[in-house]
Amino acid sequence: MKNKFLPEQLAEFEKSIAENAKDQAGLLKSIHLAQKVFGGVPVEIQRVIGKHHDASISKISGIVTFYDYFTSDIQGKNIIEVCVGTTCYVQEANDILKKVCEITKCEPNSTSRNKEFSVVIGRCLGKCELAPNVIINHKTHNKVTIDKVTELLKGI
Ligand code: FES
Repeated sequence: MKNKFLPEQLAEFEKSIAENAKDQAGLLKSIHLAQKVFGGVPVEIQRVIGKHHDASISKISGIVTFYDYFTSDIQGKNIIEVCVGTTCYVQEANDILKKVCEITKCEPNSTSRNKEFSVVIGRCLGKCELAPNVIINHKTHNKVTIDKVTELLKGI
């Protein structure tokens, strides 16, 4: 699906990356800015960055896929990561994931149509002793139950 960006948002972004293009480390700065402004660096934005930095799409795409911080999909306003690593999995993380998907109307590893939510499948967040774990908007919640996640999602 083609992404839609506000013309003012794009114009402001292009102004900033034109400045970055004068700098040696500017390409990474521009990709970082895109992630922050648009919630991801889809191919349309990669083209805009490439035009200003005189860089190929494959180079930019290589950077986007190399760093975990960047995504080529536009993420939702709220990002929910449900760990389904082994320890969380045996403590019913899959049921929690199903509940999250049901509430957000979002498939695992995708973004809802209204761009409100992205649901991400996590693989061991390094807190197995507190499983099952869910990260909502960068905050980790431990020993999550279906009731607890339902309450947490009501709050956003
Ligand atoms: S398996 Fe979920 S935190 Fe380790």
